[in-house]
This record gives sequence, C-alpha cells and structure tokens, in this order.
Amino acid sequence: MAASDQIKSLIKSFGQGDEDRFFASAMQIAASEARQGHASFAQELKSLIEDARKNRSLAQFERGKIVSLSPQKRELSELIDIFQPRITLSDMVLAADVKGRLEKLIVEQSKLELLLHHNLKPRRKLLLTGAPGTGKTMTAQAIAGELGIPVFIIRLDGILSKFMGESIAKLRMIFDIMPQQRGVYLFDEFDSIGSHRDQGQDIGEIKRILNSFLINIEKDNSNSIIIAATNLPELLDKALFRRFDDIINYPLPTNDEIIAATKKYTTAFTFDAQINYKALADAASGLNYSDIAKACEETIKEMILSGAKKLHKAFLLSSLKNKKT
Ligand SMILES: Nc1ncnc2c1ncn2[C@@H]1O[C@H](COP(=O)(O)OP(=O)(O)O)[C@@H](O)[C@H]1O
Ligand SMILES: [Mg+2]
Repeated sequence: MAASDQIKSLIKSFGQGDEDRFFASAMQIAASEARQGHASFAQELKSLIEDARKNRSLAQFERGKIVSLSPQKRELSELIDIFQPRITLSDMVLAADVKGRLEKLIVEQSKLELLLHHNLKPRRKLLLTGAPGTGKTMTAQAIAGELGIPVFIIRLDGILSKFMGESIAKLRMIFDIMPQQRGVYLFDEFDSIGSHRDQGQDIGEIKRILNSFLINIEKDNSNSIIIAATNLPELLDKALFRRFDDIINYPLPTNDEIIAATKKYTTAFTFDAQINYKALADAASGLNYSDIAKACEETIKEMILSGAKKLHKAFLLSSLKNKKT
C-alpha cells in the first residue's frame, strides 16, 4: 500500500487544483510501489499517470483557447498564437553545440518530477539570439512538440501598440497563465519593445515595460518554459542575461549544414541530375535556413506545376543564387 501521507497529499493537491503536485504525488506512489517490489503495478500506475497527463494538458489547452479565457484575457488571445506543434528537434538542422543545449533542456523537462522531487530545478528559461531565419521561433515549437505541450507565441509588439499604457498589466496576465497551463511561452523578437519610442511611448515607459518583463521572468516559478528570442542581442542590457538558464546563439548554416538542410527539405523527391553538393553549398553560402527552405519549396512547386516527375537541379541552384541578392 502507498504510504498514507502520499495519499493525503494526492487528495489535497486535487482539492487545491494543483495539477503538478497531484501528478508528482501520484508518481511518488508509483515509485514507492516499485521499491516494494510491485513492479507491474508500479508500471501500470505510471502509464495511467502519463495518459492522464496527456489528456489533461490537451483538454486544458482546448478549454483555455475556447472557453475559459476571462473576458480580459480573451482580448489578449488575438495577440497570442496557441497551438500544439507536431515538429520536433529532429526536423531541424542544428549546430552540435546548439543541439546539445536544447537536448539538455528536453531531458531535464521530461524528468521534471524526478528533479523537483530532489529539490532541483530543471532548466526552463532560454534566451535565443542570432540572425533572422536561423531557427529561433522554430526551436520553441520543436521543444513544445518534443514535450507534447502547447506553444504560446506572444506578439509583444502587438501588446505594446494595442494596450499602450496598460502593457505592464497585460504582460502580467500572460505570466499568470504560466502556472495554470504548462507550455512553451515564446516572447518572439522581444527587442521590439525598444522600437516603440517613436510611437508615442516615451523612453521611460519602454524601460519600465522591459524591466517588468524581466522581473516577471525572474519571479516566475511555474513549470512552463519561457523563451525570449531576439535578432538584436546587442540592444539588450547585459544585466538581463543572468535571468536565463541558458543563452543560445544561432549561427548561419555552415556548408555541411546547408547540405543537410537541402537534403531534409527535398527528402521526399529525387533530382533530375546528380547534385554537386560542394557547388550547392557555395551557391548558398551566407544564406539562412529560411532562404534555403524557400528555394527548395520553389523548386518543388516548379516541378509540380511543370508536370515533371523530378526536381530540377538547375532551378534549385538559380533559386539559391537569387536569394543572395
Ligand atoms: N535550424 C533550422 N533547421 C531547419 N530549418 C530551419 C532552421 N531554422 C530555420 N528553418 C526554416 O526557416 C523557417 C523560419 O525560421 P524561424 O525559426 O522563424 O527563424 P528565426 O525565428 O530565427 O527568424 C522555418 O520555418 C524553417 O522552415
Ligand atoms: Mg523568429
């Protein structure tokens, strides 16, 4: 039998609507059953818990989107995209260092209960920097896809222009959702906070907004993942960097990565001629992933529209070259 205080904690957390603790207590019961040698019962409990968790987060996610946003929060919903991504990290081409750091977060997040049980905090606050089209936004989606939790993409820019004087309160509302709905919260291109100077918001207000954003990040104690992404890290105050568990820089693709990306994007197709990948990498050097993805897509469209059965190699090469100008 599970220890009586584990059962009490289970019921208490249910009563308080503390979902994370509810699942953590249930996992503890499973673990103590396993220790007592009831391996198959423990396994059965574990899979029940995993199924329940999946169903819950999906149900909550649908509810959050459709029903239970309070009227105030509902006006926010047009500035937040919420969805369940299907992509994972394996859909991306990543530099080894970037990949390693992201995998670390995934491992720690998927062992959330275990770490929390030992009073350890899994990493969950990331700052992503790097040129446009290198995969920052995609990373937030891939992390959510890996963990099976929704992604919330927050358009800070929109919040600032729509709510002017109330931006800080609106921002606070978003941080209030985090403990209730575990997800990946992406504050995309958050350097745009700084670009509102000429739109009627004085520099003092912008500073206050940025500050409150950072304080919110620091104070947040939820199990959600917070990602801030910026193309312009040099605009950010260095003091901000320590609020994050990791700062990951996204470089432009190397030759090998250009080749890997091209193969990935065209994987379902064959080319009409042998590709010299060295020449292809030269044609694409300096481009970002987004450009390469678009050139591949144009090549696929061209094949379909021209009724051909194979991709035209020459079309891809000239498409890539055109992107450079
Ligand atoms: N590392 C990557 N691996 C594979 N495709 C990528 C990568 N980075 C970007 N892409 C492609 O470029 C598109 C735009 O990338 P995105 O994540 O929006 O870039 P960023 O947010 O850094 O500007 C993606 O939808 C994807 O098609
Ligand atoms: Mg982006």
